[in-house]
Amino acid sequence: MQFFVDTAEIEDIKKLNDMGLLDGVTTNPSLIAKSGRQFKEVIKEICAIVPGPVSAEVASTEYDGMIAEGHVLAKLADNVVVKVPLTVDGLRATKTFSKEGIKTNVTLCFSPNQALLAAKVGATYISPFLGRLDDINLDGVELIEQIRQIYDNYNFTTQILSASIRSANHVTQVALAGSDVATIPPSVIYKLADHPLTKSGLEQFVKDWKGTGQSIL
Ligand code: G3P
Repeated sequence: MQFFVDTAEIEDIKKLNDMGLLDGVTTNPSLIAKSGRQFKEVIKEICAIVPGPVSAEVASTEYDGMIAEGHVLAKLADNVVVKVPLTVDGLRATKTFSKEGIKTNVTLCFSPNQALLAAKVGATYISPFLGRLDDINLDGVELIEQIRQIYDNYNFTTQILSASIRSANHVTQVALAGSDVATIPPSVIYKLADHPLTKSGLEQFVKDWKGTGQSIL
């Protein structure tokens, strides 16, 4: 499963990229607002750091505006993926971008039928939002399983990009469900390395090693 980081914070992106953990980056208007920076500048900066796909979302909610904005975003760097919302206008725009060879990430997906539509219009990625489904007492992981089955049934090439991931357990669950990509907040990526038995085991090794009085160097 590919790892994307879900942030517009440059320092987090640099650090994770240097560790070799990043296959790509996703942003959204809320993350850009949180960064307090100019959208197009941040996207260009991220694209220069990470060679993989970087999602940049259109702001318009209408077809013509999405197309105009998508063309501007796609020109920022070769690795920009234009992110569009899963609406009728967004699906129309996705079809147009697909014909033009522009990669797309169809976002705000909450149902298998929405994912089916995105695949039919040639989306590069579909972004089902797990955490937000869990927030309203629905099962986000089940949605990933259903989309995986539908896409496999018909050999759709649209990649499942599990989004709105809130916990390390979400990452395990979407990997088990066969998600192609997970886009994960930086704090959750670091939590994947944590285990209490690793922590206590290492503390014991350090203590016992000190007791030997030896040095490796
Ligand atoms: O990738 C979409 C993601 O940023 C949404 O996450 O936590 O705001 O639901 P969240």
